[in-house]
Amino acid sequence: MIPEAVISDIKHAIDIVQVVSETVQIKKTGSNFAGLCPFHSEKTPSFTVSPIKQIYYCFGCGAGGSVFNFVMKRDGLTFPEAVRTLGGRCGIEVPERSMTPEEKESVGKREKIFLANRLASDFFSGILKGETGVHALAYLRNRGISQETIDHFGLGYAPDSWDSVSRCLSSHRVPVEIAVGSGLLIAKETGRFYDRFRHRIVFPIVDTAMQVSGFGGRVMDDALPKYLNSPETPVYHKARSLYGLHVAREGIRQSKTAFVVEGYFDVLALFQSGITQVAATLGTALTRDHVRLLSRCGAERFILVFDSDEAGIRAALRSVPVFQKEYMTAKVLVLPKGHDPDSFVRESGADAFLAMADKAMDLLEFLMDASIRRHGLSVEGRLKILGDMKEPFLALEDRVARSLYIRVLAEKVGIDEGAVHEKIHQRSGPGPLPRGDIPQPPVRQLPVGNSLELQIVSNLVRYAGIHPYCREVRVTEYFEEPGFKEIGSLALAYDGPPEAMTDWLLMNLREEGQRELVARLAIDEFPVIHQRCVALVDQYVRNKNRLGDDLTKRIRDAEIRGDHELWLVLMKEKQAFIADLKKRQDHAKKVKHKSGVSGGKTI
Ligand code: GTP
Ligand code: MN
Repeated sequence: MIPEAVISDIKHAIDIVQVVSETVQIKKTGSNFAGLCPFHSEKTPSFTVSPIKQIYYCFGCGAGGSVFNFVMKRDGLTFPEAVRTLGGRCGIEVPERSMTPEEKESVGKREKIFLANRLASDFFSGILKGETGVHALAYLRNRGISQETIDHFGLGYAPDSWDSVSRCLSSHRVPVEIAVGSGLLIAKETGRFYDRFRHRIVFPIVDTAMQVSGFGGRVMDDALPKYLNSPETPVYHKARSLYGLHVAREGIRQSKTAFVVEGYFDVLALFQSGITQVAATLGTALTRDHVRLLSRCGAERFILVFDSDEAGIRAALRSVPVFQKEYMTAKVLVLPKGHDPDSFVRESGADAFLAMADKAMDLLEFLMDASIRRHGLSVEGRLKILGDMKEPFLALEDRVARSLYIRVLAEKVGIDEGAVHEKIHQRSGPGPLPRGDIPQPPVRQLPVGNSLELQIVSNLVRYAGIHPYCREVRVTEYFEEPGFKEIGSLALAYDGPPEAMTDWLLMNLREEGQRELVARLAIDEFPVIHQRCVALVDQYVRNKNRLGDDLTKRIRDAEIRGDHELWLVLMKEKQAFIADLKKRQDHAKKVKHKSGVSGGKTI
C-alpha cells in the first residue's frame, strides 16, 4: 500500500551497513562486510552484508534480504511497518496511499467474505443452541465435547435444508457473488443457489486475526463424505490454514511447542484435556506455510502426531523437506494401534499423552527406524534402507547435520560410515554435472537433481545480460523445482536497470524462503561470464530434451522385464513429456514466424 517511489527514496537514503551495525559488529572483508549472525548463535561470522547491493545474507542460517527485510526480522515488524520505521529515521514521510480500484475491490471482496463467514458462523452456532440443533448437540455431547469447548471453538450446526444459509445471508444483504465466493453457497447451472453445508456439525476455521476464513462440516452418521471443507477462496487456503490455531496460540507461545494433529476432534479433545497448543492440518500434508504460521505463534518445537505407523511414515516423509531448516525441532509421535489423539486422550488422559510426547522420536530417526523395521537387516534389506533414506537425507540443507545423521544410520544398520555417505550422495539422475569452469555459487546443500537449475537461477539473478537469451529459449519453463521456476521467471520479467534487479526481486517475492535464496545468490561476488552462462543454459535444455530418449529406453526395459506397474508410470511420464515438448515447439515455431526467419529447419 506504500508508493514504490517512497520505498525507493528511503532505500537510497538508508545504508544497510549502518542499520546492521547497530545490532551486529561487522568488519570489512573484500567488498562485503561480515559479522556474527543476530538470528542464530554462531562462533564464526557467516553473516554477510553487501554495501553495493544493499542486501544481507547469513551463510549459516540462510536469513537474507533487503534492509527492510532485516528490520522486519530483527524487530518483528511487517513490511509496511519496517518501511515506516526506516522512513522515520531519514525523515521521509510515508503517506497512506489511496488504493487502486482493483486493490480496493480485492480488499473489499475479502472483507465481505469474512463478513459473510462471520454471519454464517453466528447463524450455525445459534442453530446449535436452538431446537433444530438438539440432535447435533447430543452428538457432540455423546463424543464427550463440553459446552465450554463448543463455545470456545464456536461450533455450530448447519440445518438439514437447502437454503437456510442462503436466506440468512440474503437477509443481511450479502451479495450473491460474495456468498458464492465464500464457498457457503454453490451455484447451480440453472442460475440458482444452494447451501454447501447441510445437516452437518460445523467447525468454523478461524485465522490468527480472529477472522472466520472457512468451515469444516462433519456428518453425524455414516454418510459420505464424512467431512466437508470450504473450497479454496480468496480468504481460505488449506495449505495456509490450521484448525484451532486461534485457540492454540497462547499455549504455543507459553510452551514453545506445537502439536500438529490431523482431525478436528483431536484438537477439541486435547484442548478439553488441558493440552491447548494443538492445531490440525485440514486434510492436507503439512506445508512450509503451516510451519511458518506456527513459528510465528512462538513454536520452536513441533510434534507431529499420527494414528498409525503407515500414516506416520507417509506424512513424515513428506514433511522432511518442510522442516529443511528446522528439522531438528520436529518430532513424530505415533499413538498406540487403534487410537487417534481424540480417543487416546479420552481413554488415558493428558498426562499419558504428554508422557508419550516426551518420548517422541526425532523426525529422521523415526524414518530410519521405520525403514529398518520394514526391510530388516539382511544384505538386501540394508540396501533398501539406504535407498529409503537417500531422499530425506538429501533434503537436509545442513551438511553437518546430514553427516551426523549418516553416522547414526551407519551405526544402526552396521555399515561403514563412508559407504553410507557414498550411497546417499550417489547421483541417480542422468548425465554428469558440469564442474570446473562454471561459477558455483557458495551455497549450502540443495537438491542434487536441480543443481543445474540452481546455477541458471543464480546467473539470472546476478546477470541481466543473459535474460534475452534465456527468454528466447524459455529455459525457466523446463524447470522442475517450483521455487527456482518462480524466481527465474520473475527475473526474466524484470526490465529495469540491472543494478536495481535484486531490490526489485526482493520486493516482489512474497515468500521469505525465496527472498533468502535470492539474497544468497545475489551476494555472491563471483564474476559471471556470458559465454559460460549460455553454455550452461544450452546444456540444460539439451539434457532436458534428451530425457525423452532415456524414458523410451526405460519403458522398453520395463516391458521386457514385465514390470507393468513401472511401465504404466513411465508411459504416463512420457505422454506428459511429449505434450510439454510439443507446446514448446509450437511456441518456437511461432517465434520464428514472427521474427520472419524462414527456410530454417523446424524441429
Ligand atoms: P472423527 O471420525 O470425527 O473422529 O474424525 P477423525 O478426525 O478421527 O477422522 P479421520 O481420521 O478419518 O480424519 C482426520 C481428518 O481428515 C478429519 O478431521 C478431516 O479434516 C479429514 N477428513 C477425514 N475424512 C474426510 C473426508 O471425507 N473429506 C474431507 N475433505 N476431509 C476428511
Ligand atoms: Mn477420531
